[in-house]
Amino acid sequence: MAQLWGGRFEGEINELAWKFNASIYFDKRLIKADAIGSKAHVTMLAKQGIITDEERDQIIEGLDNILEDVENGKLEITDKYEDVHSFLEANLIDRIGDAGKKMHTGRSRNDQVALDMRLFVRAEVKNVAGIIYEMLNTLNALMKDNIHTYMPGFTHLQKAQPVTLSHHLGAYFEMFYRDSERLLQVFEGMNYCPLGSGALAGTTYPLDRSYTAELLKFYEPTNNSMDSVSDRDYLIEFLSALSIIMMHLSRFSEEVIIWNSNEYGFVTIDDAYSTGSSIMPQKKNPDIAELVRGKTGRVYGALNSLLVTMKGIPLAYDKDMQEDKEVSFDAIDTTKNCLILFTDMLKTMKFNKDNMEKSAIRGFTDATDAADYLVNKGVPFRDAHGIIGRIVLHCIEKQCGISDLTIDELKTFADQFDNDIYEAISLKTCVEKRLTAGAPGPEAMKASIKKNEERLNEYWANSEGFYTLEVI
Ligand code: ARG
Repeated sequence: MAQLWGGRFEGEINELAWKFNASIYFDKRLIKADAIGSKAHVTMLAKQGIITDEERDQIIEGLDNILEDVENGKLEITDKYEDVHSFLEANLIDRIGDAGKKMHTGRSRNDQVALDMRLFVRAEVKNVAGIIYEMLNTLNALMKDNIHTYMPGFTHLQKAQPVTLSHHLGAYFEMFYRDSERLLQVFEGMNYCPLGSGALAGTTYPLDRSYTAELLKFYEPTNNSMDSVSDRDYLIEFLSALSIIMMHLSRFSEEVIIWNSNEYGFVTIDDAYSTGSSIMPQKKNPDIAELVRGKTGRVYGALNSLLVTMKGIPLAYDKDMQEDKEVSFDAIDTTKNCLILFTDMLKTMKFNKDNMEKSAIRGFTDATDAADYLVNKGVPFRDAHGIIGRIVLHCIEKQCGISDLTIDELKTFADQFDNDIYEAISLKTCVEKRLTAGAPGPEAMKASIKKNEERLNEYWANSEGFYTLEVI
């Protein structure tokens, strides 16, 4: 056990308590962020004359060497240390001696860990945004190719009106686009530097907090030192954004699972993204989509867990907050993996356009347009609705569609029917005349796709600027 404290202790810590308290098992992931934060801290300390320039250089070189040795396996991070902060500091002192003992001047592990988590999460917010950008591009490319691919649109999982694949995928484009905007908002809200807040009450050293904030590419230092060491709101916002992304992915997964069923046959998932059964030779299961749907629960769990952890904590730092890490790391990894895999599955998925179109014809998806036809011939809408309802009932008994009835049969329901009814309720007409903004008609769809392209260009311009901010 190599702890940073001990002076005021007489006895040894219980072994299980040591393990229970330690965070090295998971916070070793923050090693790069921790070193970057320390380098900025000592650069500021030297500028302020608190340590010398040589000491600063020795510390920076020492930290770089430790990182290098960890990366190439020469130095192992073990549970001899309580956390990643102790690991780096102890190893630094081993290597460079007294200068290493000055690294922690004017700093507490409370502001240190608050900074590390922000650096790590800030980069991950951008990473997730980058992966979503790929998803949006994939969706928009599919939208462009499928402006005339007809399929049934559903409400209550009952066929409602015909739409196109382009239109259906466009709904997901909107959802993921909003997700990207949410991520940007999380970034904007969190990009402030807590370093220099000390344990809770700042410090008497003449630190230049604005300088460290600038070195670390934050907008500004945070405002209140007590809040700085105990704020995890940004993490809750990020987990909330991740949960909403997973909710969207889960709905999409559910649809892919339904579309991939024998009964629907709308899509065929590529072999690379499905698995078989150990007993039933015919099976090809949509496991990836099912797992994405399933893993949504884990990410919701992380959000819930941190909300509950934070709800009763008095100011300022309390050890409960150490619990923010494992759940957040897991939620970030899970969401990234799900997004990447789902996007790849989408790129390789075959859409069985014939099946989709056949399904769009069956199931009275033309009933609304048949009622609208009568309205155009002067029948009040409510009467038209009743007439078509009776025709549908008749067709269900005859096991046929509305357009299978002869004009004489149709006239027994309403005089206004004429030969142009067949054209008026054809699948093509039903879809292609829907031209209100945001509707599936081809001209409306082309306008949506153009808008998507504009949004993607702007997104790319923003995210490039963002990647240069990626300090870890
Ligand atoms: N491992 C701790 C965490 O993750 C680091 C901060 C420790 N601070 C302290 N006062 N014990 O929160």
